Amino acid sequence: MRLKDKVAIVTGSSKGIGEGIARVFFREGAKVVIVCRTEDAGEKMAEKLGASEGRAIFLKTDVTSSKSIQNMIDTTIKTFGKLDILVNNAGYHISKNVEETSEQEWEFIINTNLRSTFLCSKYSIQHLRKTKGNIVNISSMVGLVGQPNAGAYSATKGGQIAMSKGMAIDFAPDGIRVNVICPGWIQTPLVDDWFSQQKDPEAARRYIFGQHPLGRIGTIEECGEAALYLASNDAAFVTGITLNIDGGVTLGY
Ligand SMILES: NC(=O)c1ccc[n+]([C@@H]2O[C@H](COP(=O)([O-])OP(=O)(O)OC[C@H]3O[C@@H](n4cnc5c(N)ncnc54)[C@H](OP(=O)(O)O)[C@@H]3O)[C@@H](O)[C@H]2O)c1
Repeated sequence: MRLKDKVAIVTGSSKGIGEGIARVFFREGAKVVIVCRTEDAGEKMAEKLGASEGRAIFLKTDVTSSKSIQNMIDTTIKTFGKLDILVNNAGYHISKNVEETSEQEWEFIINTNLRSTFLCSKYSIQHLRKTKGNIVNISSMVGLVGQPNAGAYSATKGGQIAMSKGMAIDFAPDGIRVNVICPGWIQTPLVDDWFSQQKDPEAARRYIFGQHPLGRIGTIEECGEAALYLASNDAAFVTGITLNIDGGVTLGY
């Protein structure tokens, strides 16, 4: 077990990539804090994982709210006594270019994807310092390469990568590592939602699969295994990196 007795917060873990990460961390012995806004879905995920054994809890949290984030971290410490791993995963995507994006949409995406990463990290650092813990930020291939109709989203994903490199330098003397995963296309409800927003969803799906040298999009479990590597002692000498989990799709850009 590579995370035995480690305490991990995984934001946005009721479904999608966060679910994959929470499942793998739990399998490897971690105590996992499930975080999202929808109570039913979060409770169910905590139950499925191991709430009854006291190894998983759900904390209803809105990562756009500083107060809600501070409550999430305080409650984690009260419940489990420490924090070893923070995974900033909660996020959202709007398919619009900059001209079409309203100021409200810009603020919503920035707050959900980027300011949340700043706030969750900011209020976790004091606890991670005590455990020599680490942060894994879930960015995107879109933080590295261009994507049409992703103006605000790209800004948040590039911002997460740049901020992570700075944090990796700032907190290395405290023994805290900060790394980034850049998923390519991963089969999740968010991606299904993206396909459904396209003019011809089936044609879009065929096109996207065809763009991948490995011939398919990824799974949430594959993201979980990547996060496990970065969060575990296997990556003890690894900080400030971006790990692409993308089936080679960015090679063609
Ligand atoms: N899927 C992909 O192909 C892909 C590729 C590259 C990067 N990513 C990144 O991976 C992350 C997860 O994506 P996904 O595809 O797994 O998304 P998803 O299936 O839509 O799941 C998103 C999760 O985040 C939670 N969430 C959203 N807004 C939140 C908020 N304000 N406060 C707390 N929780 C919130 C959702 O629950 P509630 O709605 O109940 O709060 C849910 O648990 C995102 O950062 C995304 O940018 C995804």
